[in-house]
Amino acid sequence: MSQYTFPNDFWWGSAASATQTEGAAAIDGKGKNIWDYWYEQEPNRFFQQVGPSEASRFYEAYQTDIALMKKLGHNSFRMSISWSRLMPNGTGEVNPAAVNFYHHVLDELINAGIEPFVNLYHFDMPLAMQQIGGWENRDVVEAFQAYARTCFQLFGPKVSKWFTQNEPIVPVEAGYLYDMHYPNVVDFKRAVQVGYHSALASAKAIQAYKEERQQGKIGIILNVTPSYPRSSHAADVKAAKIADLFFNRSFLDVSVKGEFPKELIQLLEKHDLLPVTQTEDRVIFSNYTIDLLGVNYYQPRRVKAKEYAAHPDAPIMPEHFFDAYDMPGRKMNPYRGWEIYEKGIYDILINLKDNYNNVECFISENGMGVENEQRFKDDSGIIQDDYRIDFYKDHLKWVHKALEEGANVKGYHVWTFMDNWSWMNAYKNRYGLVSVDLNNNAKRSIKKSGYWFKDVATNNGFFT
Ligand code: NOJ
Repeated sequence: MSQYTFPNDFWWGSAASATQTEGAAAIDGKGKNIWDYWYEQEPNRFFQQVGPSEASRFYEAYQTDIALMKKLGHNSFRMSISWSRLMPNGTGEVNPAAVNFYHHVLDELINAGIEPFVNLYHFDMPLAMQQIGGWENRDVVEAFQAYARTCFQLFGPKVSKWFTQNEPIVPVEAGYLYDMHYPNVVDFKRAVQVGYHSALASAKAIQAYKEERQQGKIGIILNVTPSYPRSSHAADVKAAKIADLFFNRSFLDVSVKGEFPKELIQLLEKHDLLPVTQTEDRVIFSNYTIDLLGVNYYQPRRVKAKEYAAHPDAPIMPEHFFDAYDMPGRKMNPYRGWEIYEKGIYDILINLKDNYNNVECFISENGMGVENEQRFKDDSGIIQDDYRIDFYKDHLKWVHKALEEGANVKGYHVWTFMDNWSWMNAYKNRYGLVSVDLNNNAKRSIKKSGYWFKDVATNNGFFT
């Protein structure tokens, strides 16, 4: 038998986001964000045509949900503030109903002994900001800083862990390279500008935090996705390095070290893709780095070079490498189609230790999505999600090993507390410790993994 015990003050909990859980999308003065708008425009893009208007109804059920979190052993919980709920137009007027709501949620968490971790931006650009160009427009960077400052002033005394953004590379990739998210642009140069301004917005939010003399920590949540070459062929190795440069090191280096990787700048320069910048930005980036890093991990990126051997001089840009979905021997999640590679979580933590000054970090998302999960319900109505328990355990073992080797990892948050609305996939893949029955008033039921998680959090570890 092996024992996996974690440090006493380890953070156990889960993560969620406003658009995915709150619902109440059109009431109490909330402004539209790009998801509300896009769903109105193109409902067919969304699984079973389900949009974000109701989501999991956290807006009305937050008290019972927080009581459930407590029951499931949470000592911390990551939520996000909806920018368009707090500031319906993205700038200017603050919505009093939103201020009220977030104060209530924070109070409820604190009274339950659950530390709130609060994120400011989770893919949910206010429509009014997108209409002037979203992250492409530098004015939106300023607007974000003002919004962040407002949040610190309003809620700062109740929150000691803040995050500027969640997975900022996702809006770059999905929104500006792959035609997956609104605004469905496919344009490398614009994508680079979006990424740059988004990183600048993060640094400027950190600047506001420090100027407001807040006492807690502020960081960012990144989906650090280990990039492994499909083969040991030099072209694949190089392609994997470039993927790493674009999708990991871009935000990681600037957030932790205060500057973008030189290789990235050179590559962009070579292809005439450098973004528009201002001279003062360099100082902002280097002065306002993060205190704390959240790491979201689901699956690695397997990379192969595209026709590299045939065109040795071809520019090595994202369109010139491929995700190697065809790589043989990968262990797959049979219920969702993503790879499961537990050691990836260890590789990330050791990389942070060795190459990123062992920055203080925690696992801010890790989880297993399952389609049609009702099929695993037993006679008593409990979803028997042993696969998810195994998934968590297998990842936690690697987190534990990294800890033993000196990684500065402070906690583990699962994605997610309860089933929620997952963007284009709506409610297709369920990730919760708690299920949500959409046909029955969004009724909550604890899954087997929820009870398991409670034991782990309460005992600060587990045996196998
Ligand atoms: C990461 C994102 O932060 C979250 O919004 C999403 O639902 C999960 N991945 C699952 O895909």
